[in-house]
Amino acid sequence: MGRAFDIDPDDYVREKPGHQFLVRTEAYTDEEVFDLEMRRIFERTWIYVGHETELPSAGSFKTAQVGRQPVILIRDKQGQLQAFFNRCVHRGAALLREAEGSVQELRCPYHGWIFDLSGKTRLVSERNDPGGYGPNFEEPEGLVPVPRLASYRGLVFVSMDPDIVPLETYLGAMKAIIDAKLDLSPHGRIVIASKPYVCRYPGNWKLQTENIVDAYHFMHTHGGFVKLQAKYGDSTGDFGVHKGRSTREMREQRFRGSTWSCRYGHGFAQVPPADPSYFLEGEFGGFYRGLLDKHGEEGFERITSKATSTVFPSMGMIHQQIRVWRPISAHETEVLIYPYELEGAPDVFNAGMLRSQERFYGPSGFGMTDDVEIFARVTQGLRADRVQWLVFDRGMDTDEITEDGDYRGLPSSEAPQRALWREWRRLMKPAAHGA
Ligand code: FES
Ligand SMILES: [Fe+2]
Repeated sequence: MGRAFDIDPDDYVREKPGHQFLVRTEAYTDEEVFDLEMRRIFERTWIYVGHETELPSAGSFKTAQVGRQPVILIRDKQGQLQAFFNRCVHRGAALLREAEGSVQELRCPYHGWIFDLSGKTRLVSERNDPGGYGPNFEEPEGLVPVPRLASYRGLVFVSMDPDIVPLETYLGAMKAIIDAKLDLSPHGRIVIASKPYVCRYPGNWKLQTENIVDAYHFMHTHGGFVKLQAKYGDSTGDFGVHKGRSTREMREQRFRGSTWSCRYGHGFAQVPPADPSYFLEGEFGGFYRGLLDKHGEEGFERITSKATSTVFPSMGMIHQQIRVWRPISAHETEVLIYPYELEGAPDVFNAGMLRSQERFYGPSGFGMTDDVEIFARVTQGLRADRVQWLVFDRGMDTDEITEDGDYRGLPSSEAPQRALWREWRRLMKPAAHGA
C-alpha cells in the first residue's frame, strides 16, 4: 500500500501579510484534497444541521451529511433534540432516508430492530426464536449519538469532534450578526415555515462560501439586476434590501460598510442603513418604531444594517434566509435556501420578504442564477490548471486587526474570503489532529 495522500496547506494558501494572498488551483479541483477536507474540516468543525422550528414536535426529524457521516437530528418525547449517526447498530442500514419528516419510533428496514426517539433499543426482532440471541448476548444500548450537539438562538449545530470549543466560542463575532438578524423579529425569534429551495451547481463548495460574502462581485455579476433596480427603484418591494434609484447611488450605498475575516473562518460584510428614518416613514413604520423603542437608536441601526455572512464552513445568513451548502464532490455542490419568517412581524412584511427572495434567489430569480452561472464559469476556467494561483489580495493593505484577532476590512475588501482560506490552511495541517 502506498502512503496516504496528504498535503502541506502552506503550499496551497500563500499569505504575505499586508500585500499578497494566493490560493492554489488544486484546492478547488483535486478529489483527494476534497476527501481530506471532509475529514479535517467538516468532521472537525461545528456544522449547522437545522433550525429548531423545523422540528416542531416529538418525532420530527431531519437528516444531514456531516463530512462523510450521515446524521439524524430528531426531537424526543421530552422535547429535547438528539443527534445520532444514521446507522442501525445491528448491521449498518441507514434508518431514515428522507430529508425530513416525522416518526413515532425508528424502525430499521433491514431486520426490524426498533429504537425509541431517544435512540434506546426498544426491540430486537425475533430475539428469542430458535437460532436467535442467547442469554449472553450483549444487546447494543441504542443508536450512537453524534459527539456534540448545541444550539444558538434556535440554530442547531453538531460536531464530530468531542473536544471542539463551545459553539458560542466558535461563532465568535458571528454571534452579533445572528443576533442582529434575529432581533429584527419583535420576539427575537425566527420561524422556518417552508421547505428549502434546493439547487446544485457544477463547482466546488468553497465557491459558495466565498460568494455569499462577496461585496465586490455584486455590481458586475448581477449587472442586469442592478440596471433594473436603477430603472424601477424600490418598486419591486424589497423594503430597502436591494434599494437604489441609480447605479451610482447603489454603488455608494454598498460601499459604506465593512467586511470581516473572523477567527474560525467566518466572514461577513455589513452595510449600515443610509438613513434609518427610511424605515420609520415607510409602509411598515409601526413595526420599525416598535423595534426602535425596544432596542434604542444604536440597536436599531444594528438590526436594520444589511449583513451577508458565512459561518465556516457551509452555512450562511443573507437577506431573510439561512443558506446551507453540502459538498458532493470537488466539482459538485448542493445549495439549500431556507427563507425564514420573523415571529411577530406583520404577515404582509414576511410575505413581501419571501416574494423579494423569490425574485432574487428563486429558480427564476435574478441573483442566484447569475451566481450559479459564475460558479460554472470558474469551474470551467480552473480546468486550466497550468495557471497555478487565484488572487485574493484585494484590500489587504487596509485591513485592520481587532483586539479579538479578527480582521476588519473596507467594504469591498476580500477579507471575508481570506477568512475561509486562513481557517482552511489551519485545519488542513496534518499536525493539527490525527485525521
Ligand atoms: S441492520 Fe438494522 S435490524 Fe439489521
Ligand atoms: Fe451574487
